Amino acid sequence: MCGIVGYVGYKPVSPVLLDGLKRLEYRGYDSAGIAVRTADGNIVVRKSKGKLSKLVEQLNGSAPQGTLGMGHTRWATHGAPNDVNAHPHTDESGRVAVIHNGIIENYAELRAELKARGHVFQSETDTEILAHLVEEEFDARYKAADAGVGCAVALLDAVRAALQRVRGAYSFVIMDARVPDLIIGARHFSPLVVGVGENENLLASDIPALLEHTRRALIIEDGEIVALTHDAVRIYTLDGQAVEREPFDVTWDVVSAEKGGYPHFFIKEINEQPAALANALRGRVESERVLLPELDALDLERVERVHIVACGTSYHAGLAGKLAFEAWARVPVNTEIASEYRYASPVLDDRTLLILISQSGETADTLASFRLGKQQGAQTLALTNVVGSSITRGTDASLYLQVGPEIGVVASKTFTAQVALLELVALDWAMRRGTIAHDAAHEILASFLRLPDLVQATLGADHQTEQLAQKLTQHRSAFFFGRGFGYIAALEGALKLKEVSYLHAEAYAAGELKHGPIAMLDPEIPVIAIATASPTLDKVIGNMQEVRARRAPVIAVATDGDAAIAQHADAVIYIPHAPDHLVPILAIAPLQLLAYHVAIARGCDVDQPRNLAKSVTVE
Ligand code: G6P
Repeated sequence: MCGIVGYVGYKPVSPVLLDGLKRLEYRGYDSAGIAVRTADGNIVVRKSKGKLSKLVEQLNGSAPQGTLGMGHTRWATHGAPNDVNAHPHTDESGRVAVIHNGIIENYAELRAELKARGHVFQSETDTEILAHLVEEEFDARYKAADAGVGCAVALLDAVRAALQRVRGAYSFVIMDARVPDLIIGARHFSPLVVGVGENENLLASDIPALLEHTRRALIIEDGEIVALTHDAVRIYTLDGQAVEREPFDVTWDVVSAEKGGYPHFFIKEINEQPAALANALRGRVESERVLLPELDALDLERVERVHIVACGTSYHAGLAGKLAFEAWARVPVNTEIASEYRYASPVLDDRTLLILISQSGETADTLASFRLGKQQGAQTLALTNVVGSSITRGTDASLYLQVGPEIGVVASKTFTAQVALLELVALDWAMRRGTIAHDAAHEILASFLRLPDLVQATLGADHQTEQLAQKLTQHRSAFFFGRGFGYIAALEGALKLKEVSYLHAEAYAAGELKHGPIAMLDPEIPVIAIATASPTLDKVIGNMQEVRARRAPVIAVATDGDAAIAQHADAVIYIPHAPDHLVPILAIAPLQLLAYHVAIARGCDVDQPRNLAKSVTVE
């Protein structure tokens, strides 16, 4: 997830771009850059690693002058977050400039092909290939085109031809130094909006970047290209058909627009999960195989055991990893809390794979566990959302979540992506080791392909969870329980409720209930039971009956179609039918919503709960 802005009009463009980027910094802040077409027909690029403020400081009165340009704030997916990898990117002539939000899946093969034809690459990004592709296509056409309108048409054709080669997700903005009054946008799975102004037009990833200049906007749809001049906006399909679309009026203020119209980042990020999971899995799952070239750096044949180490929500994701690795890859796994692991005496050697999960990649205890593993010769794999974060420096391999920044302090979309990717690693490994039957592997692959849609369906519980939240707020404490994958949803659900609403919540493996916690149960303690279709559902139902016998109210999270469960619960939240391994992902969505609504009902600071930090960089 990155933020992109494009402008063509009459205003000095650099301040327009920088202001737009400021509104989009919530989409990424690894690096920032702008490209401006100057009056002498050149493109000047200025970019810098770090937050936008660093670029602004560097420009300090020397911003390039012009009225056509583009700007980008980056959340890295390919290549470290440094100056060179910052966008915009240009071809070697410096005439074509490109910014991008998304992932080009076939970038490695296109890059090799372009290199073989003599193109010289400056960055490690997937994005740069588009600058070279457009340059090739436009050069051929430019020579044949008339000046003026002919060039604009030729550039549009060139972009269209280049995009035919690209597979993946993108929103691009493209301009060429030789075409003075044209900026082109294209979209496929990443957002792109047009701001329709008076003698000026803008492109952006999101509406907040437009609002300083206009409140008339147009949404560009997947598979469309848009050509902006100072006085016209023309939309086409990839195969060149013109598309008619009327702008609409934006009524949001800037702050709520940054949150996509949601009142808080937490609820926005909960709702983003279908798209986030689609991005996390993009290019990594096909119906017959898993594609995780990142794992090639590991010597998996040597590995005899796995240690998964993490804190907080990442630890919960690690517990799902253990179940998947053991079930599918038949390799023994310990999932450990990093603050314990680092001071324990774990048995580690070069036959151990140490998987470190950290959304931020900066958690002090997880980093210390990494150093311990490294010293003792373990192979190390980082699973993180932040490219170039500390955890990725020195690990043998890194796997990125690719879900964009998570702004709410309480983790949501990063948890579901962590579970999905960890399970994918387990499946990949099982397939390599031959420990899983072809049909079983095939079924799991199919479940991942359906996952974004399944998660979308769970979000329909919003209204119901809001109503349940009204009742929950009247209690001081709640229990969560489940078994197997359901226990993981229970753990994470209880953590969400604690973190965001300060309501006391405990999660137990359902079978443990009678070994202590049952003593506490009475009508004042609601119990949230993860009672989805699984081999242990009957056991979970037995536990629900034990709870009800103590007159504690029960809310069940169950599988669509299981009408019978209602006789064992006071309320049932249904989630779609899916294999058990997806339960941590599917059951957590309504529990996130529940925590959110309880927090709202209790007047809590949802995005920055008291005493919590997004990233704990001290012990
Ligand atoms: C903090 C955050 C949690 C997070 C934990 C681990 O406590 O508030 O949401 O799960 O750190 O963070 P990490 O970045 O290592 O996943």
